[in-house]
Amino acid sequence: MNTEEYFKKITAHAKEYGFIFQSSEIYDGLSAVYDYGQNGVELKKNIREYWWKAMVQLHENVVGIDTAIFMHPTTWKASGHLDAFNDPLIDNKDSKKRYRADVLVEDHVAKIEEKISKEVEKARKRFGDAFNEEQFVTTNPRVVEYKQRITDISHRLYGAMEANDLAGIKKLIEDLEIVCPISGTRNWTEVRQFNLMFSTRMGSVADGADTIYLRPETAQGIFVNYLNVQKTGRMKIPFGIAQTGKAFRNEIVARQFIFRMREFEQMEMQFFVRPGSELEWFEHWKKERMDWHLSLGLPAEKYRYHDHEKLAHYANAATDIEFDFPFGFKELEGIHSRTDFDLSAHAKHSGKKLQYFDPDTNESYTPYVIETSIGLDRMFLAMFSHAYNEEKLDDGTERVVLRLPAVLAPYKVAILPLVKKDELPEKAREIMDMLKGDFMCQYEEKDSIGKRYRRQDAIGTPLCVTVDNQTLEDNTVTVRDRDSMTQVRVPIDNLRGMIFDELKPKR
Ligand code: GAP
Repeated sequence: MNTEEYFKKITAHAKEYGFIFQSSEIYDGLSAVYDYGQNGVELKKNIREYWWKAMVQLHENVVGIDTAIFMHPTTWKASGHLDAFNDPLIDNKDSKKRYRADVLVEDHVAKIEEKISKEVEKARKRFGDAFNEEQFVTTNPRVVEYKQRITDISHRLYGAMEANDLAGIKKLIEDLEIVCPISGTRNWTEVRQFNLMFSTRMGSVADGADTIYLRPETAQGIFVNYLNVQKTGRMKIPFGIAQTGKAFRNEIVARQFIFRMREFEQMEMQFFVRPGSELEWFEHWKKERMDWHLSLGLPAEKYRYHDHEKLAHYANAATDIEFDFPFGFKELEGIHSRTDFDLSAHAKHSGKKLQYFDPDTNESYTPYVIETSIGLDRMFLAMFSHAYNEEKLDDGTERVVLRLPAVLAPYKVAILPLVKKDELPEKAREIMDMLKGDFMCQYEEKDSIGKRYRRQDAIGTPLCVTVDNQTLEDNTVTVRDRDSMTQVRVPIDNLRGMIFDELKPKR
């Protein structure tokens, strides 16, 4: 299945089962903006809670806050977003389509990478078991030439981006003979910088309205509250402040469903440390965050680190945790050692001292910061896309099953009376009442039991409890496991413990 077909399938499934809808769909939608439906909102909430629990509840030295989306405009001057939160844009004069110039080049590089993969696959078939991929990619002249081309292009692109050399980026697009995917021509405009922040006006024009911005990250709300939290919470370094919330970016390349949105949610934590200890803490959080991902039970091969070689001017270490999405490994989370850049910048622009008096060393200093930042919607896509499976069953039928980690599934258990008579619905309702205070449960009595199982598979419910005539005799029920489809008979009294077990971290 190619990426496009794949996206069609999961977008259709997400819509059909109430996970995600296009925003304002009745007006033909709004590009790169999405709404979460009745099942989506549960999955999203569960991801947020799983993160919050790991970051705040399980760390005595991390507290949470919830700051406003609107902030004083000087915030964005201090953070650098007003001057440097830009994407380089280019238009094709024939198709009138606008592109991110760096993405056009990156797409060109991806095509060369595809050629390398094809050569590798051809060679694998030719050499069979004796094939040594590492040796092949370092010695095969054609592959070596492709790799050199990629290195040269990347060097030119990132060099030009770093130096803000817009003419250099345009020249690269011309030299690579990149054509517009729509018009097929090379009739390009100059490259221009485009700021990604959305702006609006606060107050009435008569009063002299100010331009303010919708925050492009939640992090700055944490930095400007550093002292409030440190003092009122009597926090001792090292300590962290976490928050989840909406962020807004006027993304130019907005594609791949909820991977890149214009309105999205972040889960961020800033960890304040003594200067000089930051790289140790960076390694600590790098491992801690990977462990969090692995605790959900997906295969370890789905994740990898991508350490940044080129660092932003304020960072002294940075890595991404990448996830193997259906369209390849892409950034899911960023972990950055941001030095004292943000606190110092806010101190400078606000004129307020944002320091810490360390009682252990009797000195005052501006803390250094390690940031962990993950997109909630992107995490949703990672879980949803991995979970989506079309299966052929032994009896020749097919099912679509969402193999979501149980702790994230919208409903933990479905309670199903085998038939709608013989007092089975009443008994099933009793079980529902017993469990619904602890778990999201769904009661269903319509249609055959097989159809009901399929519906629960499609929304990822890990356990189905079926109430039958034997239940009335001995207070036992059958519990069907979503993934293996096996059924076991258990006493009703054991259900709560069984479901709690299902929700435990997998590593
Ligand atoms: N405070 C640091 C920061 O915002 P970032 O790498 O720009 O860093 C962090 O964003 C995370 O937010 C990314 O790893 C990604 O998961 C998510 N993210 C960023 N832009 C996004 C977008 N347009 N749509 C969805 N998620 C996005």
